Amino acid sequence: MLFRLLSSVSRKASSVLFRAPVAMKPQVVFVLGGPGAGKGTQCAKIVETYGYTHLSAGDLLRAERARPDSKDGQLIESYIKEGKIVPVEITINLLRKAMEETMRQDQEKFRFLIDGFPRNEDNLQGWTSAMRERADVRFVLFFDCSNQVCIDRCLERGKSSGRTDDNRESLEKRIQTYLQSTRPIIDLYMKQGKVRTVDASRGVEEVFSDVRKVLDQEV
Ligand code: ADP
Ligand code: C5P
Ligand code: MG
Repeated sequence: MLFRLLSSVSRKASSVLFRAPVAMKPQVVFVLGGPGAGKGTQCAKIVETYGYTHLSAGDLLRAERARPDSKDGQLIESYIKEGKIVPVEITINLLRKAMEETMRQDQEKFRFLIDGFPRNEDNLQGWTSAMRERADVRFVLFFDCSNQVCIDRCLERGKSSGRTDDNRESLEKRIQTYLQSTRPIIDLYMKQGKVRTVDASRGVEEVFSDVRKVLDQEV
């Protein structure tokens, strides 16, 4: 009798387990490139076509800055205006929360485009200590174009973006930060064979056609 009871319990337990969706480890694509290279534009198109969730570190920081009871709002604003990279403790928390929230709502949403991160050594170290065991970085999608194209696009965007950093003064600093701090991170991933480079200087659709080629090979 006891044996029958136990075996029926174990059958039930295993059938529940069998049906339970298995939580997937987050699969991450880092999206990098100069300011205005078109990261956000291309990520939006990737989301439409492929099952990724787009998380822009810059967007998350701007949202945190706008939260009335944020203790980091002022610091974030001063870093953004100066084109400097916010300390990673702040950024990694925002990213981790956004990833957790996405997967809590839908376990099948485990593919992420993390846009504008890691942007410097501090970002990379923060990711490694907080997330290395929790997520797999599949590759880096690198939108490559000249500084002049970056500046022109940001100034054009500045006519309507309302961003406090889409002006000449901030842009000069952002380009310096990109060259001094972000390029070395891209180079580091290049040495590991993890960078997929797309020529971002062309039109939106031409760039996206190359993005598709990359993603179709990787998926
Ligand atoms: P990022 O996220 O890299 O800063 P965005 O996607 O916000 O860049 O693009 C910056 C600006 O350039 C936006 O105004 C956008 O509409 C425009 N843009 C994006 N991609 C292209 C492109 N391939 N050609 C011309 N303009 C573009
Ligand atoms: O990527 P985006 O252009 O939206 O970033 C805007 C600004 O947000 C950056 O110039 C920087 O000041 C801040 N940022 C950051 N750390 C990141 C991403 C963005 O400090 N990883
Ligand atoms: Mg962007």
